[in-house]
Amino acid sequence: MRRPCPARGTERYRAPGVDSPQIEYRLTKCPELCLGVFCTVVPEEAKDFDLATLRMAKPVETDRENGAVSVLLAQIISTRSNANVVTDADMGYPKDWKSAPGKASDVGHQEGGRSVAIHSLAVAPKLQGCGLGKLIIKSYVQQINNSGTADRVTLICQDVRNCFACLLDGCCTNRHQYLVTYYQRFGFQHLGESKAQFGGGGWHDMVFHLEVPHTNVC
Ligand SMILES: CC(C)(COP(=O)(O)OP(=O)(O)OC[C@H]1O[C@@H](n2cnc3c(N)ncnc32)[C@H](O)[C@@H]1OP(=O)(O)O)[C@@H](O)C(=O)NCCC(=O)NCCS
Repeated sequence: MRRPCPARGTERYRAPGVDSPQIEYRLTKCPELCLGVFCTVVPEEAKDFDLATLRMAKPVETDRENGAVSVLLAQIISTRSNANVVTDADMGYPKDWKSAPGKASDVGHQEGGRSVAIHSLAVAPKLQGCGLGKLIIKSYVQQINNSGTADRVTLICQDVRNCFACLLDGCCTNRHQYLVTYYQRFGFQHLGESKAQFGGGGWHDMVFHLEVPHTNVC
């Protein structure tokens, strides 16, 4: 029987801006943990570039006459967690968060949690391999570190060594989905297989231990 590819069907691989209840929840509950890289573009001049995020871009704040819009090129979306690694509870969201906004829940964003759990790192497909992923992940970790509000940044990702069956039967042919070594390059530690079963499981835990930011004493 063909094993379902765990990387499939998650919001991490959707084009940014596509409707997703999880993304709406996270952007509403903890927008301060989300980071975007934007670029000003004149749609008429970029019409042949086929940038996936151009069609949902909003006009720049100064409403230029040439119709310039601010286009999302890369994004990180996260929540806070009380756990040292990403759990299934972190990946979920309370289904009644809109109708019962003050209700406490063990699922989803945990205000005050000392772990920042990254749920989505994505670069516009046309611009992948240009260094934007490196730029945003390094800036993000530095920003969270400087805030002094977290002890670690956590995430789960796939490791190619675990997915040969998947590769052999053609379920998943994109080796770039397997990012353990990618995150290690930026200082994340690989903690081994994750207990998270989100999207079918098969994940690996990655953690970046933060340092207390230095403060200047005058
Ligand atoms: C994964 C992703 C965020 C990487 O961003 P990117 O902008 O394409 O990558 P960068 O250009 O910043 O790559 C930086 C370096 O990592 C290397 N790299 C890229 N993918 C890699 C991988 N899978 N494993 C190891 N190294 C990798 C690059 O070759 C580059 O090396 P260099 O600086 O020596 O040239 C991007 O490809 C993406 O959005 N993919 C789809 C969504 C996704 O898989 N998100 C991750 C969820 S865990």
